[in-house]
Amino acid sequence: MQESNEFDTVWEDIYQRGEQLNLYPYDSVVAFLMRRFGKKPQSINILEIGCGAGNNLWFAARQGFTVSGIDASASALAFARKRFEQDKLTGEFEVGSFTELPWGDSLFDVIIDRAASTNVGFETAKTVISQAHRVLKTGGLIYSEVFSDQSSSRGDKSQDGVLSNIRGPYSGAGQIYFYSKSELQQLYQHSWDLLELFHTQKAQYLEDGVELFAHWSLVAKKV
Ligand SMILES: C[S@@+](CC[C@H](N)C(=O)[O-])C[C@H]1O[C@@H](n2cnc3c(N)ncnc32)[C@H](O)[C@@H]1O
Repeated sequence: MQESNEFDTVWEDIYQRGEQLNLYPYDSVVAFLMRRFGKKPQSINILEIGCGAGNNLWFAARQGFTVSGIDASASALAFARKRFEQDKLTGEFEVGSFTELPWGDSLFDVIIDRAASTNVGFETAKTVISQAHRVLKTGGLIYSEVFSDQSSSRGDKSQDGVLSNIRGPYSGAGQIYFYSKSELQQLYQHSWDLLELFHTQKAQYLEDGVELFAHWSLVAKKV
């Protein structure tokens, strides 16, 4: 059994090689923000945990939202800061772990977790969710996308349930925890109101079989 580290340094290596420095936001994040807050971005304070290259926040800042991001990769945040500066956008970026958010209580209206907390094990994720809860205002929303146990990914199970050395879908992205529906319901059962829970599954047909890519998208409100 391998240990489940909080931050898989695979990510720093990926960004240092100049890979996965995404320029554009994920459509799911765009849809969530515009559907819920598109009419009043100026009054909305967003924190993205595991914000990577800042691609989602770049879009949000351009729309007029107030944005902050945290990521454990210094290289990804250097890229994000430079891009914001070049495009004359304002954003606060902190290098650190989303298990210990360096912000005070009840500051944010929205937290974005796009394929970030799924990089730590189930017990560590409880800490991440409780930190997100702490920094959100009452009535604030978290939008979270995590990978699903209905993916056909294979790997070596480590402490706290994460899979490492992943083969098949999501290989090369470090360690991942693959969630069941009931585990997500468990994570958000106290002090949250679960507003939306979607499952998306895509099949990729290969010469020697089929691979399934699957993730959950959820929206929960701090109560
Ligand atoms: C799949 S990428 C997602 C990046 C971004 N959210 C997006 O949608 O493009 C996962 C990110 O989580 C970050 N990450 C993983 N574990 C972390 C931790 N414990 N604390 C902070 N960031 C972490 C990685 O460095 C990486 O940037």
